[in-house]
Amino acid sequence: MNQLSIFDQDQFAATAETFIDDLRAFDEFGQRTVTETVEGIPYLINEFWTAGQRQAHSIHEVSYRACFKAQLPEFFINRLTKPGDVVFDPFMGRGTTPVQAALMGRQAFGNDINPLSVLLTRPRLRPITLQAVAAALQTVDWSRGEIEREDLLAFYHPETLRKLEALRLWLAERAPLGGESVDPVADWIRMVAINRLSGHSPGFFSGRSMPPNQAVSVKAQLKINEKLGVSPPDRDVAAVILKKSKTLLKDGCAPSQVRSGLHTGAAWDLRGIADASVDLTVTSPPFLDIVHYAADNWLRCWFAGIDPETVAIDMHRTEEAWTAMVHRVLAEQARILRPSGYVAFEVGEVRNGKVLLERLVWKAAEGLPFNRLGVMVNDQEFTKTANCWGVDNGAKGTNTNRIVLLQRD
Ligand SMILES: C[S@@+](CC[C@H](N)C(=O)[O-])C[C@H]1O[C@@H](n2cnc3c(N)ncnc32)[C@H](O)[C@@H]1O
Repeated sequence: MNQLSIFDQDQFAATAETFIDDLRAFDEFGQRTVTETVEGIPYLINEFWTAGQRQAHSIHEVSYRACFKAQLPEFFINRLTKPGDVVFDPFMGRGTTPVQAALMGRQAFGNDINPLSVLLTRPRLRPITLQAVAAALQTVDWSRGEIEREDLLAFYHPETLRKLEALRLWLAERAPLGGESVDPVADWIRMVAINRLSGHSPGFFSGRSMPPNQAVSVKAQLKINEKLGVSPPDRDVAAVILKKSKTLLKDGCAPSQVRSGLHTGAAWDLRGIADASVDLTVTSPPFLDIVHYAADNWLRCWFAGIDPETVAIDMHRTEEAWTAMVHRVLAEQARILRPSGYVAFEVGEVRNGKVLLERLVWKAAEGLPFNRLGVMVNDQEFTKTANCWGVDNGAKGTNTNRIVLLQRD
């Protein structure tokens, strides 16, 4: 089992000055940080994590569209907080930030507009054992399920679909959505099942399909079946869940003492979070590109009992609208962060690096009570090309994370 990172860490968070100095002096992977000021924004460019580094904790291995690597929040949690501090993500997705915070003995808080996020994150913030999962699965009455949606037979063998329906009934009793009392083991089983709905291997409930975070339509699945000349085989639902649980728990689970709070709602309206209560936010918003939420998540929503049409995912086609959204989000961050608390606001590259979103974030923070410390660029190709601008030579942008660093006044 991995030892929790808290044991090999400083017990004190860095100040902004020492943090920036450390970034400047960073050379863990053999390259010195390049510093550059572009349009008045101080950039710090290096390969700060990923290559040459150990793998993330196994409990992160839950698929979610546009998730970031656990090394990203780990980098900031490590340097900018101490055990017991509150770490938050207003766009938590699969919960990479709160889960990493919990593993490092920090208080784990998060929010997302997508109700699936709480279902994917909450079970991984609590201690759990494989034995408990196996015992709970034995209490499911697999004969109870009846096929309600014939169209799903494009994905599942009739016996598998009956078992999934039986599991849904069992979950509705043990871990009802929005219910007061959620059995943590049932919650875990639902999280794993949501991740096994469709995929390419026998490790999933479906026949050959696409990954569960990009479920194809029934029509497209029928075409896949026809092309391959196959129909979905019967799967042992309990065995699939147990196997994936074993992989997830390979490195252990969250320590028991973690305090957490997860919310479902808009990132600019975090009324469940008290003023000046957060030490560090590590987050990544939806980018300009349009996410087809209902199309991507319909199968997961069916299993969990969520109506995808009720989820108001943000879509911002223009840079102006996106910047205005980020401004509102940062204004709410200014409310919930304690004085001197930090925000690490990650944006990837969109439209092949033609739009530099970090500049829009920088602008969006203007006039808010933050000290804008700089933009960190984690460039995985740094050692090869040292070109993180992408646009300069008309080439495809390199694979970078761009993180705007803000400190609350
Ligand atoms: C880039 S993803 C974040 C992924 C996350 N960092 C992870 O590792 O899983 C952006 C997230 O923003 C969420 N989202 C979109 N609009 C939102 C809003 N108005 N308020 C809160 N969350 C929103 C999406 O559901 C999605 O999970």
